[in-house]
Amino acid sequence: MLGESLVLFRKSDGTPVALHDRCPHRLLPLSKGMVKGDLIQCGYHGLIFDGSGRCVHSPTQATVPPQADVRSYPAAERMGMVWIWMGDPARADAADIYDLPQYHDPLWRATEGDPLYVKARYLLLCDNLSDPTHVTYVHPTTLGSPDVPDVPVTHRRQPWGVTTTRWTRGCDPVGLFQTFGNYTGKVDRWQHYHMYVPSTAIIDTGTIVAGSGTDRDGGERRVQILACHFMTPVNEFETIDYWLMVRNFATNDPDADEKFTAQLRIAFAEDKDVLEAIEVEEQAYRDGPKAGLDLDASAGLFRRMVAQRIRDESTAVAAE
Ligand code: FES
Ligand SMILES: [Fe+2]
Repeated sequence: MLGESLVLFRKSDGTPVALHDRCPHRLLPLSKGMVKGDLIQCGYHGLIFDGSGRCVHSPTQATVPPQADVRSYPAAERMGMVWIWMGDPARADAADIYDLPQYHDPLWRATEGDPLYVKARYLLLCDNLSDPTHVTYVHPTTLGSPDVPDVPVTHRRQPWGVTTTRWTRGCDPVGLFQTFGNYTGKVDRWQHYHMYVPSTAIIDTGTIVAGSGTDRDGGERRVQILACHFMTPVNEFETIDYWLMVRNFATNDPDADEKFTAQLRIAFAEDKDVLEAIEVEEQAYRDGPKAGLDLDASAGLFRRMVAQRIRDESTAVAAE
């Protein structure tokens, strides 16, 4: 992550530990070693480290050598994922980790997707998830429908990022919602794309029978999905999208899990294809001028907020 190799393991009480995956002796990755209770042992000469990265034992000599510690990263679990803080450990605050209330609500059902490895910089994924218009062209069979191109998109700045919204009335249901809503006529569809700085997206989207309610609540045959994407930079040009879905329909139906995930896999493979092709061109073109469209406004605002956060943190670190 962020260009560093990590080894993850659990202590005997289940607490996750994240260490730099490199033994300070001869640099063998610690992931090739063994976990022993709360400790991890290097698989080459047996140095043993605790969860804070301190070398606590050196089997071949009486004293632990100086400078034998490895870097440890604050780690915590939320929503079935381990979150790692790679900045100054003094600034890590687990209260800042994103958490979705519906994930814990028995009236909703959560399914985890497969981590999606994308050879593209994380900001390209953020652009994509600030942009409800692309679904018409990139996802014609699952998330898009041909009759929405003229419906305008609005966005608003939030304390934590940007929300981009599209509310389409009286349209045909797109493939995914038709599968689960069995609609016989037109529907109203909302798309609220919440992008949290720096790279978490919560896509709230759903449909109801046309004219029967609002995007917030009510409505007949309300089929709603909260698609959560946690974009994690592997390095400057590669990203893993850890995604999971929380839905309000077919909550007791394990068969629906597979059907649902299969459709989303198709859709996200389509995004991957587009973004990887763009990344190749980005690297060839570098920062050459691009044509702008009105639909870029929210992604542009989001990128400025990320840049501002990076500046603020860099300034704070420099001041210290
Ligand atoms: S390389 Fe790890 S103990 Fe030697
Ligand atoms: Fe997409």
